[in-house]
Amino acid sequence: MKHLYIVANWKANKTSSEAHAWLIQFLNKDLISYLHQSSHLKKTVIICPPFTLLSELSLLFSQYDLPLFLGAQNVSHFPEGPHTGEESAVQLAEFAKYVIIGHSERREEFLETDELLLKKVHEAKRHMLIPIYCVRDEKDPIPEGVTIVAYEPKGAIGSGKAELPSVANSVATNIKENKQIPSVLYGGSVTPENVHTYTSQSMIDGVLVGTASLDPILFSQIVINA
Ligand code: PGA
Repeated sequence: MKHLYIVANWKANKTSSEAHAWLIQFLNKDLISYLHQSSHLKKTVIICPPFTLLSELSLLFSQYDLPLFLGAQNVSHFPEGPHTGEESAVQLAEFAKYVIIGHSERREEFLETDELLLKKVHEAKRHMLIPIYCVRDEKDPIPEGVTIVAYEPKGAIGSGKAELPSVANSVATNIKENKQIPSVLYGGSVTPENVHTYTSQSMIDGVLVGTASLDPILFSQIVINA
């Protein structure tokens, strides 16, 4: 059985009280009994909340020994120091194990270039944060040392128009073979209904979920169905 990564990307959503309510509903009876079955240890569930929630969620995850990991949605390309408004890798590594780098929203809204993303990967890796590096197609360069790539075709993000699983699988195959990437995830309009059509593809190792991850019940179904 392959190892799957199921990643929730909350983007700029959820206040502290909304995150608490999400967690209570997410950890419903079905999900808890599912996670207790040993065969499901092959699924790594990563929640990427906004920076504002990393500290309190990390406390809750460890307090209740929850089988969940935390990821940040971005990292500064600067080390710690006088960089107003930035969060450095060493700060994030206090709470998160993973970090999303190169999401198409950051490439477009914040004009993040391949050169900048390379610096972010270096900073992340210097502090043991594992990058989940997003590409829009197989032509986007992937910095050396990246081990998890999320293939997210632009038109599929937030549109309800998911990529055909066979097409996503062939892009994942090319990324793995040409760039020696161990794990390739698919992202773009993933739902509880379609998630298994991706995770059952031979070269897809999980999913990056935006919209559907905001709903705790939908996201728990995605974890179970994946
Ligand atoms: P979506 O977003 O699931 O809403 O399409 C995916 C993403 O942006 O990572």
